[in-house]
Amino acid sequence: MSQEYKQDLSDNAICNQTGNVPFYKVLEARLSRRDILKGGLAGAATTFFAAASPVTYASKVGFNPVPIAEGSGPWPSISSDYQWDVLIPWGEPLEPDGPAFNYPPNSADQAKQIGIGHDGMWYFPIKDRESNRCGWDVWDWNDYQSWPKNMENPAYTHGNWHGVLCINHEFGRNTHVLGKEAPESLEDVRVSQHAHGVSVVEIRKSGGGPSGKWSQIESDIARRVHVNTPVEFSGPAAGSDLLKTPNGNIPLGTVNNCANGYTPWGTYLTCEENFNGYFGANGEWTATPEQERYGFSEAGFGYGWHIFDKRFDLSDPDYQNEENRFGWVVEIDPMDGTSKPVKRTALGRVKHEGIALTIGLDGRVVGYMGDDQRFDYIYKFVSEGNWREMLHAGKSPLDYGKLYVARFNDDGTGDWLELTIDNPDIAQRFSSQDEVLTYARIAADILGATPMDRPEWTTVGPDGLVYCTLTNNSRREVANAANPLAPNADGHIIRWKDTERFTGLHFDWDIYLISQSTHGTEDTFSDPDGIWADPDGRLFIQTDGGQTDGGEEVVLNNQMLVSDTRTGDLRRLFTGVAGDEITGIAVTPNRKTMFINTQHPGNGDPSLTNFPAPVDGVTVPRDSTIVITRKNFGTIGT
Ligand code: FEO
Ligand code: CA
Ligand code: CA
Ligand code: CA
Repeated sequence: MSQEYKQDLSDNAICNQTGNVPFYKVLEARLSRRDILKGGLAGAATTFFAAASPVTYASKVGFNPVPIAEGSGPWPSISSDYQWDVLIPWGEPLEPDGPAFNYPPNSADQAKQIGIGHDGMWYFPIKDRESNRCGWDVWDWNDYQSWPKNMENPAYTHGNWHGVLCINHEFGRNTHVLGKEAPESLEDVRVSQHAHGVSVVEIRKSGGGPSGKWSQIESDIARRVHVNTPVEFSGPAAGSDLLKTPNGNIPLGTVNNCANGYTPWGTYLTCEENFNGYFGANGEWTATPEQERYGFSEAGFGYGWHIFDKRFDLSDPDYQNEENRFGWVVEIDPMDGTSKPVKRTALGRVKHEGIALTIGLDGRVVGYMGDDQRFDYIYKFVSEGNWREMLHAGKSPLDYGKLYVARFNDDGTGDWLELTIDNPDIAQRFSSQDEVLTYARIAADILGATPMDRPEWTTVGPDGLVYCTLTNNSRREVANAANPLAPNADGHIIRWKDTERFTGLHFDWDIYLISQSTHGTEDTFSDPDGIWADPDGRLFIQTDGGQTDGGEEVVLNNQMLVSDTRTGDLRRLFTGVAGDEITGIAVTPNRKTMFINTQHPGNGDPSLTNFPAPVDGVTVPRDSTIVITRKNFGTIGT
């Protein structure tokens, strides 16, 4: 979500009232011990994972960057070596013959149209003309990453121009979606609810090379998953009383779908982040300690759903526990439009930003997850066994395993602490593992996890390092030689290497990059959020926050940069439109097409931008997917 919107409402608020040593203090101690960062700042890789010397290593990032001077205003800019196009703006029909966009939409149409708040997404290549299926047998994983091993396989070549895009619709303000501050009827609420969730859309490219055009096609697997779509629970907490309501209503929906993940078996993972903001209280209500820890409040974020839809009314005794049904990672089969989305409780209930999966020791699947709120934590899940064997035995690898939370030590090491009822300290507070998972934040508090500076996306690089964006740390108050940024409002990217090939309980960590808005520096950026490592070691970094030149003034729109993790080289590939956030990343198998998103262009205000419509000062701007290709049809990022 945009910072303007969420200021002190959600992820900038502090729900963590423990005295656990916060990350900025750990970092301060770590940096003074190392006596580094005295020199250059912007883009400084303060690495203990050795950087390559520029003499011996040619940077893999070679495009012409977008100059700062071109990166503002109502229209996007892209590197002169690249081009962009628009795909599936908010309100477009899911399929070509669906209901056309009308503003404001009605709820029936919106349920068959692309939602708003485009965020995390992934592209699933379709195998061949006859079969839709593109499961793990096709989308084979490399050692660390989800990348096809054999690009000559025809299954991949077809998938370069025909696939399924699963895309999250994180949020849309009432003023943007409804054209008014608050809903006036249940119909208004339904419009808002249907604008949230996930779209599964089948897309195809007509024409080859860089001039081909992508569009949605007729499909028997295209669908919308929204706040009223039936879902099911799986994993250790699935049968818990904490997920049952007194009136016995069935589990419905997913909301505030922020970032995402994808599995080696070909499914999509959508992550529920600021779910608390959609609940409110119409009557007498006092927050329980558990509700407080997750940030529930009487008015929520102002969506007003609870006024017309009792399910979101915290004071309605019939719907007690409804709020516990949100905050999970949800698995969706992109190739089966009839399958129910599954909430995987083994991954814990937090404000999930996203999940990055990789394959660890013995074929166990390992997932890294940020809980995006000031002073909340980073989590890791490790499956019980080899993922292929588990699937073969009819068990989801995401249902059986261990959940850990990270503690960062100031000597550059760290530990993964298990959230388990077998821990006597946790057993003093909770009586069963389903409580531990449902209130994972509280279990993590007890373990002494390290409060972080708003952990956003995670990604696993081909170097076996895990990268995580910490979007900002404005709580640092005192500058010193090691910490010349006070406050450090611009965020940084941390990385670590786990022992035992991802499955171990210990890690080494360091800061990959301290982002800084520095006057006169061409590669200035701040508030890193979306991040994705490609198989060649490039990092794609997306921003969500004011891109200033060191002062108060915003000098360019939010952006996507590319960094070479071997050299620290950093270049600006794309800038969005005024008021937007750049988020979401997906690629075709050959990496010659990349999909990203502009979220909340103009914050919905037509006086800032009318994107994707030409500038007229009137047309309501629409969140959109942006298709990026290199003019010479080369690999994206080169
Ligand atoms: Fe949805 Fe933390 O961004
Ligand atoms: Ca966002
Ligand atoms: Ca984000
Ligand atoms: Ca953000």
